[in-house]
Amino acid sequence: MQEEEIVPFAPQSQPLRIGVLGSGSGTNMQSILDAIASGFLDARVTCCISDVPGAKILDRARAAGVPAEWIDPAPWKTKLEGAAEDRYVARLRESGAQVVVLAGFMRIVKRGLLSAFPWRVLNIHPALLPAFPGVAAWKQALDYGAKVAGVTVHFVDAGTDTGPIIVQRAVPVLDGDTPETLHARIQEQEHLAYPEALRLLAAGRLRICGRRVKIVG
Ligand code: GAR
Repeated sequence: MQEEEIVPFAPQSQPLRIGVLGSGSGTNMQSILDAIASGFLDARVTCCISDVPGAKILDRARAAGVPAEWIDPAPWKTKLEGAAEDRYVARLRESGAQVVVLAGFMRIVKRGLLSAFPWRVLNIHPALLPAFPGVAAWKQALDYGAKVAGVTVHFVDAGTDTGPIIVQRAVPVLDGDTPETLHARIQEQEHLAYPEALRLLAAGRLRICGRRVKIVG
């Protein structure tokens, strides 16, 4: 039997509307905003929400004219669930977001968000998944002695860093690397990979077949 083919997004006459969730500096969101400004990506960022009060990602969003706010994720420390999750979903919906981009959002997202945006939640992870899921993946790669590190953009499913892979980029590990130098080189590739994946999504070129993501057209 043939596997069902899911079309996560079919292009419309309007630019793709993206809601961003992030916890940190926001360089990945910046790369998306820059890709939009340059015309590489036909999209609009409708809102930026952080679980960390005063996170730099909020300043970056405001500087670009994107509505930005901290929404309390309490009582959870490492996940987004229940009433807190409802608050995030409500704000994303209110902003008109069609897809949700996790840009350094350091929480596990749960069913409420995933069912509100089915196959429309994307994440970027600083490793070549399935190697090194979880936190500080670049450090895990270095400590393990891997010769190749990298970056993965994937659809989010119910697992942690397990969803179907859209784009991957490899980054060599150099002899003199420290966690900081390796992460910096990985980030250079992240800033190419996220706009690339979103451009494919916005153009309606992605199909999910089981674990595999096909690029059509
Ligand atoms: C990025 O390296 C991203 O891959 C990572 O957090 C950093 C955020 O940077 N995300 C994860 O580790 C998720 N498991 P940014 O705030 O500058 O975009």
